[in-house]
Amino acid sequence: MQNVLLIVAVGIAAVFVTGYSLKKLGRPFKTLPLTLHKLLGVGVFIYLAVTVVRLARAGSLNGLGWGLCLLAGALFLAALASGGWLAAAKGEARLAETLHRILPRLAVIATIAWFYLLIRR
Ligand code: HEM
Repeated sequence: MQNVLLIVAVGIAAVFVTGYSLKKLGRPFKTLPLTLHKLLGVGVFIYLAVTVVRLARAGSLNGLGWGLCLLAGALFLAALASGGWLAAAKGEARLAETLHRILPRLAVIATIAWFYLLIRR
C-alpha cells in the first residue's frame, strides 16, 4: 500500500507541476508540457482505477470507502473533461479555467480522504 501511495503522490505532484507550468507559459499552450500534463493526468486516473479494482476484489472497500472512491473518480473525470475543454477552447474560456482550477483540487482532496480511510482501518 505504501508503494501505491508513493506512486499516486508523485503522479499527482507531477500533474500539478506541469499544470502550473502550462499556466505560467500561457497560450498558445506548448505541445510538450500539454502532452505530458494530459498523459500524467490520464495515467494517474487509470492507476487509481486499477487500484480500486484490486482493493474491491480483496474486499477492502466498505460503504464509505466506495462512496469516497466513486466521488474521487467522478471528480477526476470532471477534471480531465474541464482540462480537455480548456485546451481545446479558442480564445478566452473563463468557465473552463475556473472549473479546471477547482475540480483538480477537489479530486485530490477526495483521493486523500479515501486513502486516509483505507490506511486508518
Ligand atoms: C486531458 C486532461 C487534461 C488537460 C487537457 C489539461 C489541460 C490543462 C491546461 C490547458 C492548463 C493550463 C490552464 C491555464 O492556463 O489556466 C492546465 C492547468 C492545470 N491542470 Fe490540467 N489538464 C488535464 C488534466 C488535469 C488533471 C487530471 C489534473 C489534476 C487532477 C489537472 C490539474 C491542473 C492544475 C492544478 C493546473 C493549474 C491550474 C491553476 O492553478 O490555475 N489537470 N491543465
